[in-house]
Amino acid sequence: MTPPHLARKGRTFYEAQVTATGAIMARRKLIYEGKAKILYEGPEPGTFVQYFKDDATAGNGEKKEVIDGKGVLNNRLSEFFMTGLQRIGIPTHFIKRLNMREQLIRQVEIIPLEIIVRNFAAGSMAKRLGLEEGLQLPRPIVEFSYKDDKLGDPMVPEEYIMAFGWATQQDLDDIVTMALRVNDYMSGVMAGVGIKLVDFKIEVGRVWENDYPRLIIADEISPDSCRLWDIETGQKLDKDVFRQDLGSLSDAYTEVARRLGVLPSNVTHHTKPTLIN
Ligand SMILES: Nc1ncnc2c1ncn2[C@@H]1O[C@H](COP(=O)(O)OP(=O)(O)OP(=O)(O)O)[C@@H](O)[C@H]1O
Ligand SMILES: [Mg+2]
Repeated sequence: MTPPHLARKGRTFYEAQVTATGAIMARRKLIYEGKAKILYEGPEPGTFVQYFKDDATAGNGEKKEVIDGKGVLNNRLSEFFMTGLQRIGIPTHFIKRLNMREQLIRQVEIIPLEIIVRNFAAGSMAKRLGLEEGLQLPRPIVEFSYKDDKLGDPMVPEEYIMAFGWATQQDLDDIVTMALRVNDYMSGVMAGVGIKLVDFKIEVGRVWENDYPRLIIADEISPDSCRLWDIETGQKLDKDVFRQDLGSLSDAYTEVARRLGVLPSNVTHHTKPTLIN
C-alpha cells in the first residue's frame, strides 16, 4: 500500500527499466519520484527499492543540475552511515545495497518533518539570527520543519507538531534523543577524517511491530543532507558547493567518500557511471 504521505503526492504506475544496453528489465511499480530519489515497490511486502538519481536541486527546486555520479556516491555514503548507526543500536530503514544506485529499504510511515541538528551556525539559522557562519553553538540544537515543498518546508515549533497530530510528545522525545545520538555518531566519524559536521537533516518514519509503533531513521544521510567543512581549511564538502557555486560538487562528494574509504573502486567522477542495474 502506498503510504499516505506518498499517496498525497500522487503517481503510482509501472515503469519499464531500460538497462545500459537497451534491454528491458522487469517492470517495477513506481511508488514516488522525488527530486533526488525514486522509490519502487520492493520484492517483499513492507519493502521499497530506493534509487539515487544524479539530479541536484537547491532553493526548493529553483536551481537544478545533473551531477554525474552523485547518485552512486550518495547510495554508498547513505549505506555507510546507516549501517554505522545500526551497529550502535540506532534503527534505520536500510536493509542492503542492491547495486550502484539502489538500496533495499523498509517501508515506513514518514513523519512529515525534517529534523535538523545544528552544531555550528549556518544556512537559514545564520540568516534568521544574523549569526556569523561557523559560530559554534552553545550546544547542539534540534529544530523541525514541516515537509511541504509548496510552503518551502517552514520551521515549526513542537506545539504545532503535536496540535496538528504529526507526532506525539512521546514521538518527539524519542526523535530528539535519536537525533542527538545520530549527531554524536556522525560528528565523531567525520572528525576522524578531518571533517566538521556543521549540521544535518534526517527524516524519521514509523514501523509497526506486533501492533507496536517504533520510530526508525529513513530517507538518506549523505552530503546532500549535511553541512561538512574540512577542519583545517574550512573548505565546504557538501551541497552548499552546488547551492553557492563554489566548484565541483562531485569533487567534494568524492573527497568525503575517499576519506571515509567508501569510494566505489570502479567509479570516480571522471568516468560516467553507466551501470544502473
Ligand atoms: N523508508 C521509507 N519509506 C517511505 N518513504 C520514504 C522512506 N525513505 C524515504 N522516503 C520518502 O521518499 C521520498 C524520497 O525522495 P526525495 O528525497 O527525492 O523526495 P523530495 O523531492 O526531497 O521530496 P520530499 O519533500 O518528499 O522529501 C521522500 O518523500 C521521503 O520522505
Ligand atoms: Mg528528500
